Amino acid sequence: MRLIIEDTSKQVAQWAANYIIQQIKAKAAITKSPFVLGLPTGSTPLETYKELIRRHKAGEISFQNVITFNMDEYVGLPEEHPESYHSFMWNNFFQHIDIKPENVHILNGNAGDIVKECADYEAAILEAGGIDLFMGGVGEDGHIAFNEPFSSLNSRTRMKTLTTDTIQVNARFFGGDTTLVPKTALTVGVGTVLSSKKVMILATGHKKARAVHEGVEGSYNHQWTITALQVHPNGILVCDDPAAEELKVSTYRYFKDIERNNLI
Ligand code: GLP
Repeated sequence: MRLIIEDTSKQVAQWAANYIIQQIKAKAAITKSPFVLGLPTGSTPLETYKELIRRHKAGEISFQNVITFNMDEYVGLPEEHPESYHSFMWNNFFQHIDIKPENVHILNGNAGDIVKECADYEAAILEAGGIDLFMGGVGEDGHIAFNEPFSSLNSRTRMKTLTTDTIQVNARFFGGDTTLVPKTALTVGVGTVLSSKKVMILATGHKKARAVHEGVEGSYNHQWTITALQVHPNGILVCDDPAAEELKVSTYRYFKDIERNNLI
């Protein structure tokens, strides 16, 4: 695993946006096949989306040949609800770039047949050639996508019940009212994320310090699903200084040292 420790969340966003742009360009240089990008919601990736939009408007990157798959979506929340992940993605990213709407994939949390919806999503990922780069955030309890603690590390796309902790944390998007937060969500599995060619998880702020500590220094286990990154051949965790504050000084220095001369 690579661990990139930047001073600020703004620098994390710049690093992540640079990496995404570099990966899209690297694939375009060798093939006409589309770049397949996995994307998260949450407050953490917002700055990365802003940076990608800025770089797109500056003419540095086009998303015309990019296919996206989002990580998750609430069950039962209308698509047009302002807090649905559909709304989040269009408002904060897709409507500001040149992506083709037909290339955007987001799970349908209102599907009549949830099992089929999840199976179709996995099939669509395969049909697109697999995910080249999955970007993700991490919950305070170490979950990636909505793979709550004790999710199978081999899990694929399915419905998950949200923990009370996650409902409480996400209530901030629903006026602080936990009763308004959906209790279930559709989510790609840990195994789905691990099947991607590259995985980049972002963590910013001291609230994520424990998840970063477990993800980097903890053992591979299903309680902290972020630890699955340890067994991915191309896993990158990008965090800011506050999110690194529970790492041992020696771990912190080790990664700072080996990444010193790596620009990307
Ligand atoms: C939700 C999302 C995750 C996200 C997490 C952290 O649980 N399903 O994908 O990583 O929130 O969100 P934030 O970045 O707002 O802290």
